[in-house]
Formats: sequence, C-alpha cells, structure tokens
Amino acid sequence: MADTKQTVVEGVDALTLNGKSDAETVETATDAAGAEAGGTTTNADDVVDPWNVASSSDAGVDYDKLIKRFGSSKIDEELIARFEKITGKPAHHLIRRGIFFSHRDLHSILTLIEQGKPFYLYTGRGPSSGSLHVGHLVPFILTKWLQETFDVPLIIQLTDDEKTLWKDLKIEEAIRLARENAKDIVAMGFDLNKTFIFNNLEFMGKCPAFYQNIIRIQKCVTFNQVKGIFGFGDSDIIGKIGFPAAQAAPALSSTFPFIFGNKKVHCLIPCAIDQDPYFRMTRDVAPRLGFPKCALIHSSFFPALQGAKTKMSASEQNSAVFLTDTPKQIKNKINKYAFSGGRTTVEEHRQLGGIPDIDVAYQLLKFFLEDDKKLEEVRLAYSKGEMLTGEIKKLAVETLTPIVEQHQAARKLVTDEVLDKYFEIRALKFGS
Ligand code: TYM
Ligand code: TRP
Repeated sequence: MADTKQTVVEGVDALTLNGKSDAETVETATDAAGAEAGGTTTNADDVVDPWNVASSSDAGVDYDKLIKRFGSSKIDEELIARFEKITGKPAHHLIRRGIFFSHRDLHSILTLIEQGKPFYLYTGRGPSSGSLHVGHLVPFILTKWLQETFDVPLIIQLTDDEKTLWKDLKIEEAIRLARENAKDIVAMGFDLNKTFIFNNLEFMGKCPAFYQNIIRIQKCVTFNQVKGIFGFGDSDIIGKIGFPAAQAAPALSSTFPFIFGNKKVHCLIPCAIDQDPYFRMTRDVAPRLGFPKCALIHSSFFPALQGAKTKMSASEQNSAVFLTDTPKQIKNKINKYAFSGGRTTVEEHRQLGGIPDIDVAYQLLKFFLEDDKKLEEVRLAYSKGEMLTGEIKKLAVETLTPIVEQHQAARKLVTDEVLDKYFEIRALKFGS
C-alpha cells in the first residue's frame, strides 16, 4: 500500500479505488481535480470497485474504513432522526439496520424536501445475466420506498453498453438481457406515471440530449483521471475508457428534456457502494457544467452464499439466489452453500453459540425479514446457541421463498406491452 504517498495530496484516495499502490495512481490523483474531501487513508485490504468485491475477513468488507477511504459520510443516528422527522414515519428497515450505511449530501436532499423543492431518483442495473439475484433487489427496494415516500420521479438506466464492453456479450444479446432485467424491475411495482426506464444502446439514438451530455462530461475528464478512478490500463479497449460518462449523464437532469425541460433538478442515487467511483467522477464534473452535485445513498453488499468475503454475484451461479429459482433450488442452495456462523458440533454450538455477523442465513434475514422483534429474537437465540444452524437456515428459506414466489407471479404480468410503456419517451408526473 502506498498509503504514505497517497496522503500527500488531500482527498487523493477519494478518487482512487482500492488503495492502488503504484506510483501511477498517485500521479493520477495529483492530477485529478476536485477530489472530494476526506482523504485519510487506511490499511484496508478490502477491494471494492464496480467489478470486484473482496475481503479477507469472514465478516466481510470493513465499511467504516471504506467510508474513510472513499470520503463519503456515515448514515448516523442524527441523520436517521432527521429523516424520520421529515417523513413522519420510521425509516426503512434497510436504513434502520445500517444496510444503507453511507451517503453523500443526503442532508441537502432533506433540506430540499423541507423546502418543498423537487428532486429525482436515479438508479440502474448492468444487464449481465438473464435474471437478477436477491442482492440486486436491495437498492431497488429502497428506491421504491423513497419514490413512494417522497412522490418523486425515478430514472432507471440499463447499461447494456457497459456489459457488451466488459463481458463476452453481443450487442443484440445485451439488449435482450436489458429488457429481461427490466421486467424484473417493473415487477417490483414501480409507478408507471413516475418511472422512466431506458437501455443505453437504444436510448442513445432517440435522445440527442443524452449523447450531448456524455460528450460534455467526456470533455471534462482526462485519461489520467479515469485511470486513477477505475484502474484502466493502456491495453483496455477505448470503449471502457469512455463509458463512465454514460453512467454519469443521467445524474444531469438535462439528459431528459422530455421530463425536466431545461430545469436543473437535484438528483439522489441509491446504489451499492461499488458504484460510487462513477459518481465521484460525476460529482467532480457536475458543477463545472453548471449542475448540482448528485447526492448518494450507499448500501453494503448482500454477501455471496459462501460468505461475506465476496458479494452475491450474478456471474457465480452458486453464489446467489436468483429471482428465477424454484423453492426447491432456494432450499438446496441455502442448505448446501450458505456459510454458517455455527460451531462444528451441536455440543459446542450449544455451549459457545453461533456468530450471526458471519452467518449468511442470518444476513439473509437481516436484509429480508421485516419484523424487527423476530429478527432480534433470532439473533439472541442463535448467539446463545439455543438456535441451531439448521434452524436458522430453515427460517431463511421460509423468509426468502415467498418473496421470490411473489416476485415470479408479479413478473408473469409484465408483458412486452407493459414494459414498452415504461420505456416510452414521455413526460412524468413531476413537481406538482
Ligand atoms: P449492477 O447490475 O452490477 O448492480 C445493480 C445494482 O445492484 C447493486 N448490487 C448489490 N447490492 C447489494 N448486494 C449485492 N450483492 C449487489 N450486487 C449488486 C449495485 O451496486 C447496483 O446498485 N453499472 C451499474 C449499472 C448502473 C447503475 C446506475 C447502478 C447504471 N447507472 C446508477 C446504480 C446507479 C451496474 O452494472 O450495476
Ligand atoms: N413487493 C415489494 C415491496 O413492495 C417489492 C418486491 C417485488 C420485492 N418483488 C420483490 C421485494 C422481490 C423483494 C423481493 O417492497
């Protein structure tokens, strides 16, 4: 780790990804204008970037260290209290339980809400597989709750271009996957009047404002900067180098003139923290183009079934419970693969108790069991050894199976005609 070098420039590592240690990064960072504040470095070995999540600890990524390294802010009790005061209801359990743990400028969004001023939500998905897994639901569940709570428009970007460039995927296939994934997203119940969904490979040709903003953004960022932020190298294809601008553009409201006219509207982006590098870049560029910086609310990762050393990933079949899995597959996967925080023998377990923090079945419950009281009971019983691994896995299966089944039923209703309505270029209900 080149920690000492990186601290030389304030905020430097806010623009680097994973404490990359080579001199190249340091030079790059020096060159990178407008790094966000908060550049204290840590020794974390965790790797978190848009393509990899890896930690050497069974408990997973050290999120407090990540906040320092990325220069974002913790979602603390005070922020949650302000949130609850404004909405007049308890914060969503994903916020209350610290699963959404970090943010940038959320206070500014809350101030806008208090002042009755508009903002919009933006999130997305990179269609790399035909089906989403349950970890992908996390940002979308919170997005839906935010949309309903604040009655605001929502933009959902499907980056089929990104997946064509990064994976062994043909354009046609990436477009097909984007539509398949969009069906899963629509099945979550987003309000058609307030939601616009698009895939880059098709929207680009229909909306000149999108391409124009991409070029404006590309004009503000040097190769050195994207190298520093994303770790690109000399042998990376040029499509990758230009792509980040396509993920940044929807954070500028003028990308969607048919929704926002020429108003400069603030934007809030819910996503898992792996996507933050794109938006650090976006936040750097936006003020130079006369736009407000986008605000962010970051979630932690739903762990791979094999444990929190990596995230649940669509490219690892057995790491994930997919929304297309049958009840039998869900049961088998959890029983067979879910990393256990239990002890090796029943006697030992009864005596010492299990460790919920590293137990994937418990993590499943933490994300998906809404009943706070029940969750706390389970945590206590498991920690004390009163509840066994088999029992906590059974509860995880019972909690997840109906969620996936209901999702599948909802998805059946999403025909191509229904989907087309969400993709239609049109005005949304906005700023009443
Ligand atoms: P993608 O498709 O990798 O992931 C979609 C969203 O899901 C989050 N995510 C997870 N959250 C919790 N646990 C996990 N195991 C997990 N795996 C993925 C991601 O952080 C993301 O929020 N380039 C993006 C697509 C994109 C986007 C955006 C995402 C375009 N514009 C704006 C967020 C906001 C991608 O490939 O995401
Ligand atoms: N019905 C859920 C809600 O209102 C959203 C949803 C749809 C969902 N499909 C899902 C949540 C699958 C979890 C899993 O919040």
